[in-house]
Amino acid sequence: ADPDSLQDFCVADLNASISINGFPCIPASKVSASDFFFDLSKEGITNTSNLNFSVTPANVLSFPAVNTLGISMNRVDYGPGGLNPPHSHPRATEMGLVVKGRILVGFVTTSNVYYSKVLTRGEIFVIPSGLVHFQKNVGKGKGIVFTSFNSHMPGVVILSTTLFGSQPPMPNEVLTQAFQVDDAVVNSIKSKFGS
Ligand code: GLV
Ligand code: MN
Repeated sequence: ADPDSLQDFCVADLNASISINGFPCIPASKVSASDFFFDLSKEGITNTSNLNFSVTPANVLSFPAVNTLGISMNRVDYGPGGLNPPHSHPRATEMGLVVKGRILVGFVTTSNVYYSKVLTRGEIFVIPSGLVHFQKNVGKGKGIVFTSFNSHMPGVVILSTTLFGSQPPMPNEVLTQAFQVDDAVVNSIKSKFGS
């Protein structure tokens, strides 16, 4: 959740030379109607990795009008079997609406309880702030989910790339001990995530 706004809006100046908690506003005289609208009608390209999914964000970086408003959305497209892999958002609760597909949605609580359900068109889900979650399209056709967040920049921690794809890499002695496996296993996973 983001702090409350002190004004109606603050369309982000993404090129400002100062860095604050959020972005400075462009002058109100430069704001026009088009700033407040954004097109999420385009299907994302899902076949660029074997995850077979694609996220099109409408956060402050792509849609600067949401700056300081504590809200944003994503469009998530899935091919058949497509997976949005386990990840968390450090700054937001997420709510999602399934528009197409049969979407297995799961998350795990801080008490290590796993909750999940397969959703179809018109059904929604909520992921409590910060918890690790995923969606997998278990249907035969394409899938579409629109997600929303109570932050203009929810942030994302993808577990696989965070642990096995950081630059510089996390040391093997940490990962072998943490996962109780040998170097070969860690190296094999690292090789798939570019670390
Ligand atoms: C889905 O989990 C998303 O972060 O858009
Ligand atoms: Mn998410």
